[in-house]
Amino acid sequence: RQPIVAIDGPAGAGKSTVARQVAQRLNLLYLDSGAMYRAVTWLVLERGIDVQDEVAIAELVQDCEIRLEASGNDSAFAAYPSRIWLNGQEVTQAIRSTAVTAAVSAVSAQPTVREVLLRQQQQYGITGGVVMEGRDIGTQVFPQAELKVFLTASVGERARRRQRDLAAQEQPAVSLSDLEQAIDDRDRKDSSRRVSPLRQADDAIALNTDGLAIEDVVNKIVQLFES
Ligand code: C5P
Repeated sequence: RQPIVAIDGPAGAGKSTVARQVAQRLNLLYLDSGAMYRAVTWLVLERGIDVQDEVAIAELVQDCEIRLEASGNDSAFAAYPSRIWLNGQEVTQAIRSTAVTAAVSAVSAQPTVREVLLRQQQQYGITGGVVMEGRDIGTQVFPQAELKVFLTASVGERARRRQRDLAAQEQPAVSLSDLEQAIDDRDRKDSSRRVSPLRQADDAIALNTDGLAIEDVVNKIVQLFES
């Protein structure tokens, strides 16, 4: 059986950077499930569909084709967790916009969206060993994962990390207080939705990353995996 590592946690806890490096160290594929929710949200906005319009969004998600690069090692795209295509068009950068970030929680709360993406995400675990990051990987996507990690950090620390990510991705700058508010708002929505909310799995190991170097977090997870 192929090993699966599930890394969950709130927005900006450092999941992407950590998960990508853990995958490299363990020679597993890296997959960013949030990119898939962002891609659907990008298309919803692009088509001018209301983010609360469940019927129109259900129809949309059922016939959109998402291709997620199962690695993240492409150095030309080091600032992004992974490359992603929607109906043949690359949306790697577009899905990181502030507009998509603000709308994604409403779209990802819809049952049909989750059903369709859940099935696609589970497919990735059939073909090979993966490190997948998200909000419900340990609870819903891969409840059988060998290792489940729940990454957290204070909201101030997470806002600072987001600010650095935005700069690296050449996205417009946002103030720290606005970022804190946006992060808080997204966590609240992600934790309170009816279908598979953001939650730590009972058998997940919680890691607070405040003040820790990425390398230390990665080492800790690799150690947990190997023990
Ligand atoms: O990880 P990232 O911040 O890019 O995720 C964007 C959004 O996608 C989250 O705020 C959440 O609403 C949704 N998401 C989810 N389930 C996942 C991954 C992401 O609902 N497994």
